[in-house]
Amino acid sequence: MKILVLNGPNLNMLGKREPEIYGKNTLEDLCDLVESYCKTLDNCSVSFYQSNHEGDLIDKIQTSDVDGIVFNAGAYTHTSVALRDAIASVKTPVIEVHISNVHSREDFRHKSMIAPVCLGQICGFGFDSYILAINGLHRILSKDVK
Ligand code: DQA
Repeated sequence: MKILVLNGPNLNMLGKREPEIYGKNTLEDLCDLVESYCKTLDNCSVSFYQSNHEGDLIDKIQTSDVDGIVFNAGAYTHTSVALRDAIASVKTPVIEVHISNVHSREDFRHKSMIAPVCLGQICGFGFDSYILAINGLHRILSKDVK
């Protein structure tokens, strides 16, 4: 099974960006963590893509030949009807993830434009949010879970 980990705006700044919220580790560290985890799963290959540009993220959602997507849309989560429509336009299951607990932060982060068209949402577990999302996707795609 093929999983895409898609990261949106400012996630290339992990490690430098507000470390008290997002931690000291970099996007490369995140990709390494996810890649090592996927190696422990049966039949799971993972690819990564990060962009600061909404249109690039839309193109990736529309054109990726994968079985599932773990998506941290960053701030676009809270604003982008276009990303929501892109997710709704494909059959690929998408899990929304956030490093921080968006619900315990500013009011504007409580609303997710994409949540209604995602399979589920995981937030607040630091980089482990991605691991939990991959675990959920892997179980569902392997039909372990009905
Ligand atoms: C984030 C939360 C968003 O509100 C914020 O704009 C981000 C990161 C997270 O991973 O916690 O860029 O998606």
